[in-house]
Amino acid sequence: MIEVEKRRIDDDCRGRPPSLLCARMIVPAGFPTLRPRRLRQTPALRRLVAETRLSAEQLVLPLFVRPGSKVRRPVAAMPGVFQVSPDELIKEATRACTWNVPAVLLFGIPHRKDARASGAYAQSGIVQQAVRLLKKELPDLLVITDVCLCEYMDHGHCGVVRRDKKTARILNDPTLKLLAQTALSHAEAGADIVAPSDMMDGRVRAIRERLDKNGFVDTPIMSYAAKFASAFYGPFREAAESAPQFGDRRSYQMDPANASEALREVMLDLQEGADIVMIKPALAYLDLIYRVKAEFGYPTAAYAVSGEYSMMKAASAKGWLDERAVMLESLLAMRRAGADILITYAATDVARWLKEG
Ligand code: PBG
Repeated sequence: MIEVEKRRIDDDCRGRPPSLLCARMIVPAGFPTLRPRRLRQTPALRRLVAETRLSAEQLVLPLFVRPGSKVRRPVAAMPGVFQVSPDELIKEATRACTWNVPAVLLFGIPHRKDARASGAYAQSGIVQQAVRLLKKELPDLLVITDVCLCEYMDHGHCGVVRRDKKTARILNDPTLKLLAQTALSHAEAGADIVAPSDMMDGRVRAIRERLDKNGFVDTPIMSYAAKFASAFYGPFREAAESAPQFGDRRSYQMDPANASEALREVMLDLQEGADIVMIKPALAYLDLIYRVKAEFGYPTAAYAVSGEYSMMKAASAKGWLDERAVMLESLLAMRRAGADILITYAATDVARWLKEG
């Protein structure tokens, strides 16, 4: 190619993906030689050239476990989602396994909450019990545990609170110890991966150190690295009974306005030893999934949160959307953006749909 022409193309394509640059150099002509519709004619042809694929092995199913037996309490805002006792949890997890969902993400609802979140790190805590049972009954299923204090704190915040007469502060450093203790208790119970979701600074390092000191050098950390203070968590707070009793989470979760800061958060968690990084929510934050994967190249998870699930369920129940189609399309979009791992309340249904074709 003539040097001048090549330089012009290089200039034009600066900052664009290399594929576009190649196309510009190779392409002989436009229409009618080029007809993109040629490759869209049949399902087999479309599948052959599909750039992104969804498969069951990318899915993680979140589950809510509470004490008792034969308990199956529906979460009103999330049709198809239940708070379950450990025996019912095994049934839910078995169903997921049947359709090849490889992993669950556990949240616990303790029978009692206090100001130290003692239920979060109790050896006989509900998550610890559930992990032991799951690993015994379904040893091949990956058990990921959400590491946070909000479900166990009487005030519903993700950290230790100091109250003055007028104000309340969420304390960072005193919280780290409790989080590390929680993660360790999960690992001791047999958790395959621990997933801190609190957004305190330095929690990944604190957890890594505590795990390593106790011989759990091989337990991976999936950090909720860029977790935003999002209104899309609304239904989850009913499911996990974790709504803050005062104030909101904006002093620790991220401002939805910030993307550069999200990249810094991810960088810090990786420096502290995170093995997998998560972006949460997913659909409204696809730009960050893309940037995090492109920038760091680490295993990247997207969390399709409760509100995303509820919106699609509600509109589908009214006949306004096709549930299966919108769920699959939105998860595919997360994959296209760069997510390797998809956390969704619809995981079992999605895995079944994929199998049914
Ligand atoms: C706990 C936690 C939350 C979610 C996951 N872990 C709630 C919150 O931060 O308020 C949200 C999940 C969802 O909405 O599906 N810190």
